[in-house]
Amino acid sequence: MTSLEGRIAFVIGASRGIGAATAKALVRQGAAVALISRDRAALDNLVAEICDGRGRAAAFVGDVTDEDSLRAAIDGGLAHFGAMDIAFNNSGVASAAYRLHETPVEEFDRLVSVNLRGMFLSLKIELAAMLERGGVIINNASISGVSVVPNISAYNASKHGVVGLTKSAAVEYARKGIRVNAIAPGAIMTDMLSTGIASTEEGRDWIGANVPIGRIGTAEEVADAVAWLASDSARYLTGVLLPVDGGYLISRGGSTKRPASREEARS
Ligand SMILES: NC(=O)c1ccc[n+]([C@@H]2O[C@H](COP(=O)([O-])OP(=O)(O)OC[C@H]3O[C@@H](n4cnc5c(N)ncnc54)[C@H](O)[C@@H]3O)[C@@H](O)[C@H]2O)c1
Repeated sequence: MTSLEGRIAFVIGASRGIGAATAKALVRQGAAVALISRDRAALDNLVAEICDGRGRAAAFVGDVTDEDSLRAAIDGGLAHFGAMDIAFNNSGVASAAYRLHETPVEEFDRLVSVNLRGMFLSLKIELAAMLERGGVIINNASISGVSVVPNISAYNASKHGVVGLTKSAAVEYARKGIRVNAIAPGAIMTDMLSTGIASTEEGRDWIGANVPIGRIGTAEEVADAVAWLASDSARYLTGVLLPVDGGYLISRGGSTKRPASREEARS
């Protein structure tokens, strides 16, 4: 018997990276998963992989910036599986680097539309679906939800908003048997990270040097934390923001200087 046997989980933003890894982790723990994202082909591949391994999964195309599209995708999952016990709200986009006074309004709107408004819409639909029988929701925030990474103010603001929504929902729905928590990943090696400073070995070394554990994290390491939060082992946790960051947030008083050499970065 695994910890999520018989549960129905929805992963929003499931097509790749942390979302895809979490879908697989939830299935390993015994859950069936409804996979929602915009990319039909990527979702179909993931469903095939999970079903080949004898897991249960189905895909529904939906865009978190569009209420009708998201609602149709979630309704599709509810019709297919019959219920929603767990939801992982993972959809997100990264920002290009801008000083705040130079950030285009369109860039701010794009970030808020996916990361914050999309989170609001997801919660609104999921909480309604869980009202009758309770459930667990995990929101993917970021270390940018409590701290700030310079030159991405729109991203920082959107993720601070995710933390605010998480705490609000946790308090409002605790007596309905719905737990709502968030995770704060640090630097995790996915498509989102690999397009920027982490595209070179030197850049990855520099990031790793600023993490107490000494390296960038993996999507699977985040996924395992989400699966644990979704399980009954975390039954007395609600409204928390769980860092999954190799110790980065608690060490921010330390040096964030670029190391002089690769050897220094690795030491
Ligand atoms: N990689 C990191 O270092 C890191 C660190 C902290 C937080 N995060 C957060 O983790 C989450 C996942 O990021 P990732 O690193 O796996 O990146 P990724 O780019 O690989 O995945 C993002 C996912 O969000 C989905 N998505 C984007 N816009 C969407 C929309 N409008 N509607 C529906 N789905 C949409 C994408 O299809 C994809 O499945 C994001 O919320 C990101 O902010 C990532």
